[in-house]
Amino acid sequence: MPVVALIGGQWGDEGKGGTVDLLAKRAHMVIRYSGGNNAGHTVINDLGSFKLHLVPCGIFRPAVVNIIGSGIVLDPIVLLDEMTMLEAAGVSLDNLYISDRAHLIVPYHLQQDQLQESLRGDSKIGTTGRGIGPAYSDKMERTGIRMGDLLHEETLLQRFARVIDHKNRTLRAYGGTDQSLHETYLQFLEYGRRLRDRIVPTHPLIQRALRQDERVLLEGAQGVLLDVDWGTYPYVTSSSPGAAGACQGAGIGPRDLDHVVGIFKAYTTRVGEGPFPTELTNALGLHLRERGVEYGATTGRPRRCGWFDAVAARYAVELNSIDQLIITKLDVLDDLAEVKICTGYRLHDTAISYLPSAVAVLSEVEPVYETVPGWQEPITDCREFAQLPQAARQYLDRIEELLGASIAVISVGPERDQIIERRPIF
Ligand code: GDP
Ligand code: IMO
Ligand code: MG
Repeated sequence: MPVVALIGGQWGDEGKGGTVDLLAKRAHMVIRYSGGNNAGHTVINDLGSFKLHLVPCGIFRPAVVNIIGSGIVLDPIVLLDEMTMLEAAGVSLDNLYISDRAHLIVPYHLQQDQLQESLRGDSKIGTTGRGIGPAYSDKMERTGIRMGDLLHEETLLQRFARVIDHKNRTLRAYGGTDQSLHETYLQFLEYGRRLRDRIVPTHPLIQRALRQDERVLLEGAQGVLLDVDWGTYPYVTSSSPGAAGACQGAGIGPRDLDHVVGIFKAYTTRVGEGPFPTELTNALGLHLRERGVEYGATTGRPRRCGWFDAVAARYAVELNSIDQLIITKLDVLDDLAEVKICTGYRLHDTAISYLPSAVAVLSEVEPVYETVPGWQEPITDCREFAQLPQAARQYLDRIEELLGASIAVISVGPERDQIIERRPIF
């Protein structure tokens, strides 16, 4: 039975949350593998409308084991709030586990993130301000605190004692305020007490699922174009949201992955700074924003909108061995008389068919567009591919052709049942 990684193919917010909620109906296990509460995953189902930042979106299915994986950076305040919110909505959390290897976001990470951003001035990244970059930096610097440390009072105190002086020196240099060792320790001890029963070594749980041939879904956060190695560096996040990151952040060997499903919006959006070749800064961009309700699920910031970029999307497919596609928000294009797809870039007289690594180059390229007719009729009630207007089918066929992978699911509205399932993913 398949192990499937669902990864965002663009700059995030492709509709991963809703899709995981849907696919989880046939899964035994869902694992969030990267990022932290920079993610905002929207789920609309019979229990209500939710924006999840850390809890995997398989949580609404009581039979599904939901794991916050080792690759995550976790702010316990945000997690506890999210858990309270879910329980109040009648969602059982008996099936929620957290890897003892996941790293903690500590208040000094939030301060550091926000202070660094303000000092960057015009060259700010536009981070979510949630402490993500500093927490991953500490992980690499080997000064991070892990979930498992919360279970051992002495270790926790030792770990904080070892890092907090250094942290305070850094914060002071940025104009921030010192954090007390004692208060931080007591605060995190309390979080540990509240989360203790869920903090587990996830390796045996996951290995058992693989041996028993269970269906495992790896829930991506962010998207390939925000990848620290392959995204639009430095305008990226600090983790690896792609397929390799899925293996690493869940603790699954690459040969155990059966499918990599790439999820893409039928157009493109981006939050925060950084190059965006197909961005529409005109009335059409505003139209997409309003029709698609393109406002960040974490920060509420308006998302920048533009045409589908098949160059960037193909790059995401190639880098991650994506073999199946999910296209979301096709309904947002319903009104348009014509729709454009970017099939190449031009820099002065040179054609470029891949994503250049230099931001200066990517900011300068001119997109080469192919124009296809719009369908100008509502599609939210379509449940079969054949019910879609011919122009919509042509648009999707062209995307398949340009990306070299087939479309398994098309989403035509934000609700759980507003989808066209051409081929089951599990
Ligand atoms: P994620 O971060 O990838 O989980 O995506 P977000 O939740 O941040 O953003 C996706 C937004 O699009 C949410 O508000 C969803 O409810 C909405 N959405 C998802 N699929 C569709 C769709 O097919 N049509 C429309 N109109 N909205 C959708
Ligand atoms: P989901 O999982 C969209 C963006 C931020 C910023 C950059 C770095 O909902 O798709 P960070 O706080 O990670 O250091 O910010 O990455 N970003 C996202 N954009 N969706 C997300 O997550 C994002 N997570 C981070 O806006 O540009
Ligand atoms: Mg989101």
